[in-house]
Amino acid sequence: MRIKITDRTRDIIARDRKVMLTTTREHYPFVSHKAEGDYTYDIEGNRFIDFATFISVYNFGENASKLVRDAIRSQVGNLMHAAFTDYYSELPVVFAENLVKMFPKGFGRVFFSNSGAEANEAAIKFSKIFTKRQYMMGFYNGFHGRTLGSLSLTASKNVQREHFGPFNAVVHAPYAYCYRCPFNQEYPSCGMACVDYIKKYPLAKEVPPSEVAAIFVEPVAGEGGYIVPPKEFIQGIREIASDNGILMVSDEVQAGYMRTGTFLAMDHFKVEADIYTMAKAVGAGLPMGVTVTRSSLGNIPSGSHANTFGGNLAAVAGADAQLGYVRKNYGELQAAAYRKGKRMMKRLKQMMEDYEIVGDVRGLGMMIGVELVKDKRSKEPAVEEQEKVLEQCFSNGLLLLPCGTSSIRLIPPLTISDANLETGLNLFEDAIKSANRNRKRAR
Ligand SMILES: Cc1ncc(COP(=O)(O)O)c(C=O)c1O
Repeated sequence: MRIKITDRTRDIIARDRKVMLTTTREHYPFVSHKAEGDYTYDIEGNRFIDFATFISVYNFGENASKLVRDAIRSQVGNLMHAAFTDYYSELPVVFAENLVKMFPKGFGRVFFSNSGAEANEAAIKFSKIFTKRQYMMGFYNGFHGRTLGSLSLTASKNVQREHFGPFNAVVHAPYAYCYRCPFNQEYPSCGMACVDYIKKYPLAKEVPPSEVAAIFVEPVAGEGGYIVPPKEFIQGIREIASDNGILMVSDEVQAGYMRTGTFLAMDHFKVEADIYTMAKAVGAGLPMGVTVTRSSLGNIPSGSHANTFGGNLAAVAGADAQLGYVRKNYGELQAAAYRKGKRMMKRLKQMMEDYEIVGDVRGLGMMIGVELVKDKRSKEPAVEEQEKVLEQCFSNGLLLLPCGTSSIRLIPPLTISDANLETGLNLFEDAIKSANRNRKRAR
């Protein structure tokens, strides 16, 4: 155990439990204090390597760079909030102009909000108004947020939906989760049964395609288990959408903004969506959601959608400074994501060979998931072992987050040093080794 926890931490956690309503907090007692570069510190002064980047927000180093922080500071001295949907400001317009340069040709309209859920809420409303249709389609293992519209699309875990229905008009279909294929087939001999299913069942028996406004899909399923689908899955969805006048929405809230090595994760699939949503890393640590639409879809009537804080000047100042850095260093950041991602995959795939408990390793760029199982034959999810790995890593100075039923996400900053990446992987392997040794057998 490298870190020390005292009553100071325990007291804050006890007070938190009394006064706070809801959380999805980890089992381990991490009380954050400060962060910079590769490191995050808790209030006890313990130092951690962060393989969770505060949920994929600090893609370019903990607490963003000095450049970003200075831009925010300087804007705070002038004006923080300027009610951007009611009055005009130049900075959000500049940021939107810069942002659309990162999108395929023909993408030219932006809506600002404050979170991923809100970015998706906007995409739901825009799709409805653009198509004058009522239904949405989403996928199992998909996560699009927890507000009621976005939650209608989310179908990752029952606890997220229990007691909140009835929901908006959404139909769901299986995501291409090849490790646990819902059709008990194997890729590529499956012939993409999951794409076929969409045509044969939901769209043939539940809702006519002519009534579907949009299909929402994560290019890599995040919260639902860090699942990377085959290219043909995403391409199949694109085809279904195009053939039926349905809009395709790429939810890039977690996978976007260079995490997979490209600004848009959808680019890996050689497909263009019609609407993109982003949040998390966009705001460089301040709340920011963006919904970007194909210009040819047109505009929406004034007053049909707006908010108070979208385009908040302090948030936009940081976001634009970070975007400037990304545009200037794109090649280098991309090369780093691919090189370090490859290194991570190699180490993790070796762990899959060496330890029974590591059932699957999958990823794109530096968005990598490891699925833990009781044993490779039964594939029974190793839920307790997942918790043990997270706890041991924490105790030894490595922060991680779970996903899916028994998976762990590994999402360090793209800027992490090779030495810290290696140390983090060593700590992860130590924890996998212990969990493997002590694992409870499949029932
Ligand atoms: C893919 C995806 N969409 C939407 C959301 C919701 O974002 P937020 O928590 O900012 O509302 C998340 C959050 O984890 C996400 O991963």
